[in-house]
Amino acid sequence: MNQQNLTEHITFYFEEKFNQKPLLVFSPGRINLIGEHTDYNDGFVFPAAIDKGIVAAISKSKNDFCHITALDLNETLKFTSNDIVPKENGSWENYVLGVVSEIKKMGRRIDNFNLVFAGDIPGGAGLSSSAALENSVVFGLNALFQLGFSKEEMIFISQRAEHNFVGVKCGIMDQYASMFGQKNKALLLDCRTIKATEYEIDFKDFQLLLINTNIKHTLSESAYNNRRSTCEKVATLLKVKALRDANIEDLDAIKDELPMEEYLQASYIIHENKRVLKASEALDNNDLNGLGNLLFASHNGLQNCYEVSCEELNFLVDKAKNNPDIIGARMMGGGFGGCTLNLIRKSAIEAFSTSISASYKKQFNVDCNIYHVQISEGTHLIN
Ligand code: GLA
Repeated sequence: MNQQNLTEHITFYFEEKFNQKPLLVFSPGRINLIGEHTDYNDGFVFPAAIDKGIVAAISKSKNDFCHITALDLNETLKFTSNDIVPKENGSWENYVLGVVSEIKKMGRRIDNFNLVFAGDIPGGAGLSSSAALENSVVFGLNALFQLGFSKEEMIFISQRAEHNFVGVKCGIMDQYASMFGQKNKALLLDCRTIKATEYEIDFKDFQLLLINTNIKHTLSESAYNNRRSTCEKVATLLKVKALRDANIEDLDAIKDELPMEEYLQASYIIHENKRVLKASEALDNNDLNGLGNLLFASHNGLQNCYEVSCEELNFLVDKAKNNPDIIGARMMGGGFGGCTLNLIRKSAIEAFSTSISASYKKQFNVDCNIYHVQISEGTHLIN
């Protein structure tokens, strides 16, 4: 379903159910050109919002409870301001409750509301359906109750919701990209200053293509939080605020104090952070092959040093490497499943799609999905 169909579908349902005209919000998912796991190291990332996302309809309620519907799942949650506590792990409810809880912690008053949402971001694909949902809720509540939050305040509310209710100690990339995305532009974001430089994306004869492994390995959340604490531990040992402030020579000087695994993980972060800046230079110089090589190098680090890839992702990237029409590919997002990002010659897309679908199926007995995404505008009200 595209955004317009989603909006019509939700509006129809909402008006039938509540007999009110809702305020409508679109909040997108994101891709990331390069810079994986660098965000919580105060480093650089290079994301962009996409044309897949969440549509949320919201209105004030006359009842003495809030009424939330996840339309895709056909599930409903009712709560009052007295029972805002985290639900079972993995439940969509935590994204909504977490945002409400964080707004309340800031001393803002929100009355009861009705919310219905649905989306077209495949879950578990590493395209940040979570950030899209959090942002749609905070953006909708901000508009509905005139809370006066800036976009920057809203992304930190979304992030804290994820930390405190969902339990993932995520960085700020996903919420930033989803909120601040620009049409046809990737955002080179400095995660320390929260300032971004926009890069027009037009790869001429090439295009970005996503391939979803349709796999989400369990334990990805605990592995994520573990990686983060390793990075923080190494930064403390190096006496720097974050790994963004370290270079490889600093790290080598304390190599003996670290288990090999932790040394490799920290070295990945230091190199990846540099790769993001090199990628921006490659874009400045229209050097697509240079950009592509950085994508392959990023994957290599994620696979062998940071160890957040998996067999299925590695299989897709290896196939891409062997295809002369693909000049760069890597896993994207937190890892342990989700999508690969491929920089592919437009004229080769059809043939590659057919062959990769067949070989992936043969290898894993699972279908992969191929997505063409457009780089689009961030969270906004729909008129
Ligand atoms: C997840 C997190 C982000 C970021 C990526 C990895 O998407 O939510 O903050 O750390 O993983 O780059």
